[in-house]
Amino acid sequence: MSRSAHPAGPRHADVLPEGHYAAPAADLNALDPKVWAHTVGRDADGVVTVGGIAVTQLAEEYGTPAYILDEADFRDRARAWRTAFGADADVFYAGKAFLSRAVVRWLDEEGLNLDVCSGGELATALSAGMPAERIAFHGNNKSPQEIERAVRAGVGRIVLDSFQEIVRVAHIAQSLGKRQRVQIRITVGVEAHTHEFIATAHEDQKFGIPLADGQAAEAVRRALQLDGLEVIGIHSHIGSQIFDMSGFEVAAHRVVGLLKDIRDEHGVELPEIDLGGGLGIAYTSDDDPREPHEIAKALTEIVTRECEGARLRTPRISVEPGRAIVGPTAFTLYEVGTVKPLDGLRTYVSVDGGMSDNIRTALYDAEYSVALVSRTSDAEPMLVRVVGKHCESGDIVVKDAFLPGDLAPGDLIAVPATGAYCRSMASNYNHVLRPPVVSVRDGAARVVVRRETEEDLLRLDVG
Ligand code: LLP
Repeated sequence: MSRSAHPAGPRHADVLPEGHYAAPAADLNALDPKVWAHTVGRDADGVVTVGGIAVTQLAEEYGTPAYILDEADFRDRARAWRTAFGADADVFYAGKAFLSRAVVRWLDEEGLNLDVCSGGELATALSAGMPAERIAFHGNNKSPQEIERAVRAGVGRIVLDSFQEIVRVAHIAQSLGKRQRVQIRITVGVEAHTHEFIATAHEDQKFGIPLADGQAAEAVRRALQLDGLEVIGIHSHIGSQIFDMSGFEVAAHRVVGLLKDIRDEHGVELPEIDLGGGLGIAYTSDDDPREPHEIAKALTEIVTRECEGARLRTPRISVEPGRAIVGPTAFTLYEVGTVKPLDGLRTYVSVDGGMSDNIRTALYDAEYSVALVSRTSDAEPMLVRVVGKHCESGDIVVKDAFLPGDLAPGDLIAVPATGAYCRSMASNYNHVLRPPVVSVRDGAARVVVRRETEEDLLRLDVG
């Protein structure tokens, strides 16, 4: 199939619907470095390359759809976080964003720690050789088997999420003759999303133990009494895709307030504080995320200032970025199957994946951008909605975007910033097979998670 010039395709609608879309970029062939992995560019023929490899070659060798992961970019971002926080703090990559054994090895080599939140994630981390003491185990309902496995493996910390779990972990650790290092996850009444945060009653959620009504203080009181536990700190995670640091400021203030109360009541200064993850990335050119060094500086200053005010030794800080490391490092490569212009509305562009490889648009109304990557085009922009192949009208990958008006079946398009929460939340809806994750670096590509096959599907269906 030819990926070069196509005859004139559908034109953009004469009357565009109001709102919900940004104006077309001045040059649809341009690739905004804010939303694309660092090594992405176009070659002399206009084909997009990543890690020195043309996407047309990747599509030919590995098929579409596929998640294409830029290893150098991943390592750069991981290292930037590590360097920004320095030796006196810890960075735990949140594996829920995307986890594979290759990624675990890269993290290990770059000196990051790992946050896991299920037995499956723990198994992946251990099987790739991540030292157990650098693993934090999360979750609001860890099973006794998962807890036992984590304690036996010697994970560096278990983050306790409820009163029942405090007793459960203590009991299991003690029965194994161990003292498990734990943090207690509290909810500080702050919820942050993107540019906003709300610092009122947001304890209405399943995670953590509320600071309100003295519940968190009671949890610490109980945990300190149990021989199976070594309480090393307090944990707080306030939300997702956050750009505004003031939510962290309020959270740090409240966590340090609790540390002070603990010191006053028990004479114990807990040595660690974890401020969770949630730092935002650019999904479209409208987003302006902060650099890791700015975030590290802001968080360290906030905690230090609060501790000075409370006359506490500044605890060791840790953070758990997931999206901010892996999100921008990957894009999803699709082949266009059909192009359907609806007069006066928009053009529907159907790709060979959809909500099974990216549920975020359907689930969160998430915004993405998209580009034609197998060639350049000077055709007029047309307003498109990129949709998948699933039997559901909510099967939308990119709600509103502009692509060249000569887009045609066989073209390759790519959706950037799909490294986080796309493969990890992928499904088999309609028995569509989950795409592979292909990592590229220095002109070489390799499959790190292979494409699912019909055999895989049928193997689980035991008849
Ligand atoms: N630490 C804890 C305790 C968390 O619960 C999370 C995310 C993170 C760290 C990492 O957050 P990040 O830096 O990746 O934002 N599926 C949603 C996001 C759910 C996040 C859940 N917890 C999405 O696709 O936006």
